[in-house]
Amino acid sequence: MSDHMLVAEYRDGSWRDVAIRPYGPLPLSPVISGLQYGVTIFEGLKAYRQPDGSVALIRPAANARRLNLSAARMSIPELPEALFLEGVRALVSLDRLWVPPHGQGALYIRLSVFSIDESMRVKPAERFALNIVSSPFSAYYAAPVDVLVTDRFVRAAPGGTGGVKPAGNYGPTLVADAQARDLGCDTVLWLDARERRYVEECGVMNVFFVIGDEIATPHLSGTILPGVTRDSAITVLRDEGHVVRERPIAIDEIVRAHDQGRLRECFGTGTAATLAHVRSIRYRDREIVLPPIEARPIAQTVRERLTAIMQGTASDPHGWLDRLPNV
Ligand SMILES: Cc1ncc(COP(=O)(O)O)c(C=O)c1O
Repeated sequence: MSDHMLVAEYRDGSWRDVAIRPYGPLPLSPVISGLQYGVTIFEGLKAYRQPDGSVALIRPAANARRLNLSAARMSIPELPEALFLEGVRALVSLDRLWVPPHGQGALYIRLSVFSIDESMRVKPAERFALNIVSSPFSAYYAAPVDVLVTDRFVRAAPGGTGGVKPAGNYGPTLVADAQARDLGCDTVLWLDARERRYVEECGVMNVFFVIGDEIATPHLSGTILPGVTRDSAITVLRDEGHVVRERPIAIDEIVRAHDQGRLRECFGTGTAATLAHVRSIRYRDREIVLPPIEARPIAQTVRERLTAIMQGTASDPHGWLDRLPNV
C-alpha cells in the first residue's frame, strides 16, 4: 500500500474530520455494524502516469456517482461528490511517487464506506467511516481466462444488490470461484438467478460477445454492476462506428452461435484488468473454445483505445481524464 490513507467520519448528519494520515490499522469496535451486518460499500478506480510525468485519475466522477447509488441501496448517507473527488485528488497528489512510470502500470485507489455504529440491532446506522487507500499495480495485460458457467450458485437476484457494490456481494462468490478452479477454470460466468439462462457477468467483470457481425453485452437489468469500463468500452466502440447492443444474452444462444461458427469473441471488462479475453467457456458437458486471440479485432480495438486514452497517448474526447496539477 502507498504511504498515506484518507479518513473521514459521518456523524450528526454530516461528513467531518477529513484527514490524511500515514497508512496503518484502524482502531475499531468489534461490534460495528459494518462488520456485524456488512453495512459496507466500496469503489475502485485507477490513476495513470501521463507521458509528461503528470498523473491523471480515470473517470473519478463516475465512481463517485456509483458509490452514491450503493449508499442509497445500503442505507448509507451520500458522500458529497466534492469530498470523493477532492479526497482522492489530495491523497494521490501526496503519494504521487507511488504512481508507476508511464506505461508500466497504474495506482489502484480503493474507497470504503462502512457503518461504525456499535449496536447489535439490525437498524439503519448513524455513524460511518470513509477510508481511501491506494496501491501500485505493475503493468499487466490480463491473461485470457477459462470460465465455468455455474447454474448452481448465483451472484445477484432481482431486487437484491447486484447492481451496486456492497462488500457483501463478493464473499459469497468465492465458493463458486473455488469450484471453477477445481475444474481447471479461472473464474465463473454468472447466469441470472431466476431462470439460470441469461449471462450476466464474468467473475468481477462485465462481459461482451461478438456473435457474427453483432457486438452484444448484457443489458443493465438491475442485477449487473454498471461497470465504468463497460461504459468506456461501449463508448469507444460506438466512436469507431460499431453498433453495440445491450440486450439479454442466453447461454443457449452462445452455445448455438459457437456450433454455427459465429461466436467470434468474448471478453470481460473492469478497472483491474481493463480487458481480459475469454479463452474458453465450460457449460455443463460442453467446452466452447473461442478463436485465437490474434483473430479478435474488436477486443483489440477496445484494449488499445482505452489504454491509449488512459495513458495519455491518444486524445481524450470524452473528458475521462482528471489531471492532477503537476507539482
Ligand atoms: C461485479 C463486478 N462487475 C463488474 C466490474 C467492473 O466495473 P468497473 O469497470 O467499474 O471496474 C466490477 C468491478 O468493479 C465488479 O465488481
